[in-house]
Amino acid sequence: MAIRLGDIAPDFTADTTAGTINFHEWLGTSWGVLFSHPKDFTPVCTTELGAVAKLKGEFDKRNVKVIGLSVDPVSDHHRWIGDIEETQGTALNFPLIGDPDRTISTLYDMIHPNANDTLTVRSVFVIGPDKKVKLSITYPASTGRNFAEILRVIDSLQLTAKHSVATPVNWQHGDDVIIVPSVSDADAKTKFPGGWKALKPYLRIVPQPK
Ligand code: BEZ
Repeated sequence: MAIRLGDIAPDFTADTTAGTINFHEWLGTSWGVLFSHPKDFTPVCTTELGAVAKLKGEFDKRNVKVIGLSVDPVSDHHRWIGDIEETQGTALNFPLIGDPDRTISTLYDMIHPNANDTLTVRSVFVIGPDKKVKLSITYPASTGRNFAEILRVIDSLQLTAKHSVATPVNWQHGDDVIIVPSVSDADAKTKFPGGWKALKPYLRIVPQPK
């Protein structure tokens, strides 16, 4: 069954390039990003894994652990890592799951048979410290993802987990935000003592809380 937002991310134990990992234990109290790529030794995947490795510091800053997955075995991942390093100019610095029997791909519904009946699509799951799924996106094999967008969503998720706000279209960290409709004007006066700009009674803009 498809995994929906708010579901507990299914737990699993997997063989990875960093040894055997129990997913929930490995996440600990961190946020997590679990993403699948269709196949080792393929061009788009090579660029994606290099890009994620370069963003490791950004994920670390946000207390996010990143882990990749494909249906190839870990022995193939280890051979491919050299190509990623050579062509993308960065060492792989996060674990890659080998899932040749497709146990985890099936658990996370990462194989979409009408797109490809054997390879994983490009799934992304963002998981909160409560182990609940906060974001799920699926890209086709032919389109490399924009991991800056994943970081942007994590910024929004981490902000909105703490404050009674939502983030508007194309929001970037530091931009103004929106007071959620469930907060009355009376309560908003306490939560946002600096005031807000009401474009409509339901569209109240405030500076991003610190
Ligand atoms: C790629 O990563 O380049 C790729 C993988 C599967 C299908 C198409 C492209």
